[in-house]
Parts: sequence; structure tokens; C-alpha cells
Amino acid sequence: MLSLANATDELNHAIARLRYEFAARNPLSERSAREAQKALPGGSTRSVLFYEPFPLTISSGRGAEVTDVDGHTYFDFVGEFSAGLYGHSEPVIRQAVVEALDGGIVLAGPNVYEAKFAEAIKARFPSMELLRFCNSGTEANILALVTAQHFTRRRKILVFDGAYHGGVLVFPSGGNPLNLPFDFIISPYNDVVAAARRIRENKNDLAAVLVEPILGAGGNLPGTNDFFSTLRRETEAAGALLIFDEVKTSRCGSGGMQGLFGIKPDLTTLGKYLGGGLPTGAFGGRADIMDHFNPHRAGSLRHAGTFNNNVCSMAAGLAGLTKVFTPARADAFHKEGEQMRVDFQTIADAKAVPLSFTGLGSFFTLHLGGKLLEKAADVTPLSRQVGLLFHMFGMLNGIAIAGRGDFYQSLPMTSEHRDRAKSVLTSFISEYGDLIRALAEQNARA
Ligand SMILES: Cc1ncc(COP(=O)(O)O)c(C=O)c1O
Repeated sequence: MLSLANATDELNHAIARLRYEFAARNPLSERSAREAQKALPGGSTRSVLFYEPFPLTISSGRGAEVTDVDGHTYFDFVGEFSAGLYGHSEPVIRQAVVEALDGGIVLAGPNVYEAKFAEAIKARFPSMELLRFCNSGTEANILALVTAQHFTRRRKILVFDGAYHGGVLVFPSGGNPLNLPFDFIISPYNDVVAAARRIRENKNDLAAVLVEPILGAGGNLPGTNDFFSTLRRETEAAGALLIFDEVKTSRCGSGGMQGLFGIKPDLTTLGKYLGGGLPTGAFGGRADIMDHFNPHRAGSLRHAGTFNNNVCSMAAGLAGLTKVFTPARADAFHKEGEQMRVDFQTIADAKAVPLSFTGLGSFFTLHLGGKLLEKAADVTPLSRQVGLLFHMFGMLNGIAIAGRGDFYQSLPMTSEHRDRAKSVLTSFISEYGDLIRALAEQNARA
């Protein structure tokens, strides 16, 4: 077995070797990334899509596969970080968008889709008694937070370490200079004692607790039942609102994580796949809260947004939720997705290679084992490095996964896609099993 001292060096060398191979294999993407730097900082307009040595430029997508400018086709497990639920060319979505376009765009009036779409969302997430559309998950969260502040007449917001609620609402260790200036209190994820204490200590000023039912960017770490029931009970007692950010997790079964856990948040935010792959977001919840947006009411809140109800997003989202990602399909997909995560874990366990795959249903993340993974701080930098190694290995073996080791499955995936991913994992383990064992020992001490 490798000595511990050498293991980190070996990991860095392995990543560098794979990156070298990657660069040699993708000259046109490299050129495109270089040219993009002329007008975009570092060639990038979305930080999450950047990875070293350069991200592939994707020229097209079909079903659950994407093709890059060098002509390589990948089985796509990046899945647009969950927004790609429908894949790249779902015919029902395409048809809905074409029909919407045929009806004319920028109509500047309520259109024929938005109320039906809102009804369809409400049927799936009954806690959203009334809702409003916006343009993204980030916007949905911002609107939910200011709504909570207005409703409670309080300022403070409790969030969790490692959470991601949008580019201006992100809580990595070390903070984010771009965060909006809300008065945040930050608590460790899944720590019921700390959360209850902070809610009680701030009970006179706390407007809301904003929580992801699965800590996504923090490593796809699922919250526990105990954690959510504590948040529900304590917010109720404190008179603060509980906001579930289900931007990603609403695809977990037919009713999202709130359906699986039987928890009724006061407000919920949605986004990602909701618009069928086109930009949209939604926030909604208790009728007594959301009715503050009712324009018939004296002194109602104004919430504008040119594209809140843009016809393409509304039509695509409505078609997606009612004709493709139906409740039965959502439940079946959740089960299939979860099976892939279990299969990945079984492959690693069978070879006694300490890797953990956390998540639930159709998305999960690869981690270095040797540690209990409950909160963001449990995911070490070393573990993230192993994610990078697997990312490069996958890219060189025909499966695209997110740079941080995340897998997102999509509806058009078949056993062929999942089996290929499993066989790539098997090869990864046979190539790097000893290295991973040595790193896991180090990780356990971190
Ligand atoms: C849990 C969660 N909330 C909110 C957002 C922000 O959504 P958007 O990128 O649409 O602004 C994201 C995006 O990754 C997310 O994962």
C-alpha cells in the first residue's frame, strides 16, 4: 500500500496526467476556451461550469447525450446540475415550445399557460397554496426571503453552512463576497441541537429558516427526518417561516422531499427543470402569506418581472409536468435513480474501496470514504480532489459528470447509460483502488 505521505502527491500527479491527456484529446475545445477569454473573464460566464484545464465546449445534445466541438459524444451525467431532467431533446417539450412560439412571444398580458402551470405545480406540492413565477431559483429564494421578512416584520435569516441558494446566496466555509446583505445566521447542516438553539436564541428577530432538503453544493448530503421535524417545530414555536429550497429536490418523487418527509413548509422555492429546460423559477406557499401579492388587496406587494410568465418557459414547464414528468413517472424515476446510487456503492464496497455516494434518488456525489458525511465540513478538500480525479477519468471514458463529482440522471437515460457509468466506476477502482485506500486513511484523520 502507498505511504500516506506519498498518497497526496500521487493523487495530484494522477490528476495532472489525466488533464494532460484531456487537453491532447480536445484541441478544438481548448481553442474555443482560449477565444472565449477575449470577452468573458477566464472564458466563463458560469463559474460552476469551469474546470481545469478548460471545460469542453458542447456543440449539441440529444436524449441523454452531449457532443463536444471535437466530435466526442458523452453520456451526460452533468444533467445541467438537475435542470436537465428532461434531457436535451424531449419531443413533448419541443412541441410545446414550438406551439408557444407560433402563438407569438412577449405578449405583455397573462397568457394561456401560466395559471394552468401554477395549478399543476400546486397539485404536486400542496403546501404551495398560491405561488408566483420568476426567472430562476436564485430569484425565487430572494423573493421568498423578502416575503418572509415582510410577513413576519423581522430581519434575520437562518441558513446552513455549505448551502447554495443561488449565486448571491451561497454559504461555503470562508463566505462569499457576493452574497446579498441579509442578516444571516449560519448553522451546521443536520445538527438539530445547534439549529434549535439558534432559532430559540433569535426568536424575536428571526424571519425565516431557509433550507435545502439535500445539501446540494455542499456534497449532496440528505437532511434527516429529525432535522426537518426539528426545524418545523422550532420555527412554528418562534413564529418564523420555514422555507424549503426545493429548486433541485422537487424532482425527488412526485411531491419532492416535502412529500417524502411529510413536512409542510410555509414557503417553497422551485427552479431548475421546472421550465422544461428553459429559464423559470417559482416561489409559493401558505395562502395567507402569498395573498399579500394579491393586487385586489389594498396595499398589496408589487412583484414585477418582465419574463416571469414568458410563454416558452410556461408552455414547456406545463407540458413537462403534466405530460412527461407525471407523478407516476416521477416516482419511478426516483426509484431507478436511487438504484444507481446503491449500485455504485455496492461496486465500491465489493472491492473494499472506501468511496461513499451520497444523495437521494436521481442525483448523488462521489466522496472519499472514511468519514461520516452529515454536514458540509465533513466533506474534506481531499475528498473534493478525488472527485476531480473521477471527473477527469469519466470525461476520458465517455461519461460527463460535474467537476465536483456530482451525477445527475435524466429521464431519457436507459440501462445502457447507467451500465456504462458503472463500468467506468469499476475501471476507476481497479486503476486507483490502492491510492483511494491510502487517501481514505488520511481523510479519516482530517
Ligand atoms: C438548491 C439550489 N437553490 C437555488 C439555486 C439557484 O438556481 P438558479 O441557478 O436557477 O438561479 C440552485 C442552483 O444550482 C440550487 O441548487
